[in-house]
Amino acid sequence: MNQEEVIRTHSAGDLSVKKLGAEVLLAGWVQRRRDHGNIIFIDLRDRNGIVQIVSNPTQNEAIHKIAEKVRNEFVLRVKGIVSRRPKGTENPNLLTGDIEIIISQMDILNTSETPPFEIEDNVNVDEGIRLKYRYLDLRRPEMLKNLSARYKVVKTVRNFLDKHGFIEVETPILTKSTPEGARDFLVPSRLQPGHFYALPQSPQLFKQILMVSGIEKYFQLARCFRDEDLRADRQPEHTQIDMEMSFMTQDEIISLMEEMISTVFSDVLEMEIEYPFERLDYDESMLRYGNDKPDLRFGLEIKDVSDIIANSEFKVFSNAVNSGGVVRSINVSGGSSFSRSQLDELTELAKSLGANGLAWIVLEENSLKSPIVKFLKEEEVKQINNRMEAKSGDLLLFVADKPSTAADVLGNIRLKIAERLNLIDHSQYKFIWIVNPPLVEYDDEEKRYKALHHPFTLPTEESIDLIEKDPLSAKAKAYDLVLNGVEIGGGSLRIHSKDIQQKVFKLLGITEEEMQEKFGFLLDAFEYGTPPHGGIAFGLDRLVMLLMKKKSIRDVIAFPKTETATCLMTEAPSTVSEKQLRELQIRKR
Ligand code: AMO
Ligand code: AMP
Repeated sequence: MNQEEVIRTHSAGDLSVKKLGAEVLLAGWVQRRRDHGNIIFIDLRDRNGIVQIVSNPTQNEAIHKIAEKVRNEFVLRVKGIVSRRPKGTENPNLLTGDIEIIISQMDILNTSETPPFEIEDNVNVDEGIRLKYRYLDLRRPEMLKNLSARYKVVKTVRNFLDKHGFIEVETPILTKSTPEGARDFLVPSRLQPGHFYALPQSPQLFKQILMVSGIEKYFQLARCFRDEDLRADRQPEHTQIDMEMSFMTQDEIISLMEEMISTVFSDVLEMEIEYPFERLDYDESMLRYGNDKPDLRFGLEIKDVSDIIANSEFKVFSNAVNSGGVVRSINVSGGSSFSRSQLDELTELAKSLGANGLAWIVLEENSLKSPIVKFLKEEEVKQINNRMEAKSGDLLLFVADKPSTAADVLGNIRLKIAERLNLIDHSQYKFIWIVNPPLVEYDDEEKRYKALHHPFTLPTEESIDLIEKDPLSAKAKAYDLVLNGVEIGGGSLRIHSKDIQQKVFKLLGITEEEMQEKFGFLLDAFEYGTPPHGGIAFGLDRLVMLLMKKKSIRDVIAFPKTETATCLMTEAPSTVSEKQLRELQIRKR
């Protein structure tokens, strides 16, 4: 490389006809080389875009010899004149498609192996290969765009919260087990053999302590670690936009968050989002959508028909209702076109989700097609059709089961059908707050109550008495924000009196001893003047995934892990040396 004062003067993607005639120095990667025998074209790519380089042997043979050696992904530095492309050779698909660089100098700064896949958008390549060669995958413009958008979200959020008086405080990564309900990642202590740190599932306890400390408005871009089963929107480590506020009501927190989310959309997508967002009671969401993260981009609402068939001669239905269960239904408008095998497939899906079956009625022009109408009275069918607003051409699907199973099964079938019938308008962003959830739920397997949110969530005033009398009816001052069927954030007001906190711990089966051992520091802190407080955390990865319309959070995380929590690039987790294990006293000598 010739010694120059600078390596480059311009970025490939920033050049245009405005620079015609200028001599520029560029550096970047070879996207493609096309050898036309007498003339070589090289598409030179850097972070901002691509520009065409032209080498003509009649102009400079030495350079042409170098150009002949160039291959994809070589790193080049070129000097040349910005020129207009000959008429008819412009490339309208390129921002720099009107120009090319006629070179007078070229250096190969580095060579490259042939990459395992093309560095371009929409490559058809197994995700495992992309993750193994993540450094190449991230060269693709699409991935750069995702990372830039993520940065922009973070920047917008920081500015927004700064403007509203928040300060960012870092909390420990090596800490004590926290209560978000997933399994902890543990780190053995060398200095205290047999003792372990836990990586934080969230900064929950620290941010509450910071309220006791008088910080009043805290935030952190916080890494959270959860050892749980992974899915497209779950990683073993994720980033939260984590916040906690003192002296604010639930409505004030919700309003501030709506403003923040709308600012993010306007800064990152230049899109105006209307707020306040809709709010829906948790119970209502479970009933109408079958889950607590409803996708509102389409209808297909679930309705309860238990009262209509409570005394029916069709025992599958009446027995379910009379033993505390429900019968719920979805009306698939135009669903009469479903084939028998498609209905069988839905039945199998229902069964795989724990239902005993899936009953259906197809409304044809003048008749009903169904395996169950023969068991139902005409009046019952009429009332069902009325409730379901069913008309000719529709399909009614029914599940009879305990409420939670009926909700879950129909909730999933609702999504499946929306996908199959293409009912989702992907250009939409539909927000909804899910509020007023139960304080606890009963875990049949563990035979104990579990906090729906976490054990520090404040019960509503009316629910304080219910904690002991009727825990399942107690409601919490908690709120989740759902966007297009994905929970992007969740938070609550917190308990700030020791008395109520202990009642809730007791309900959750946490003994006095465990309380002290696990959360003693928080309970102690609560003795020193705790302000009323509350907070929320947004899943940054999920938010960016939805903003960028990606199907997986892996596409918006630089170095994500696979569904088996492996990093294919570094091959973590890996074994460690015997010496390390001995030092940690995990292996005896
Ligand atoms: P919660 O557990 O609801 O609340 O988490 C907050 C948000 O973080 C995102 N999220 C995840 N994203 C990717 N991978 C995961 N494994 C994962 N788990 C959660 C979700 C979720 O809405 N401390 C409380 C917040 C509070 O009460 O202030 C908490 O962590 O988008
Ligand atoms: P059976 O009398 O068990 O053959 O059931 C008659 C119809 O009811 C079949 O179409 C079953 O799929 C359906 N069915 C059975 N159990 C349930 C249930 N729990 N909920 C809804 N439909 C059911």
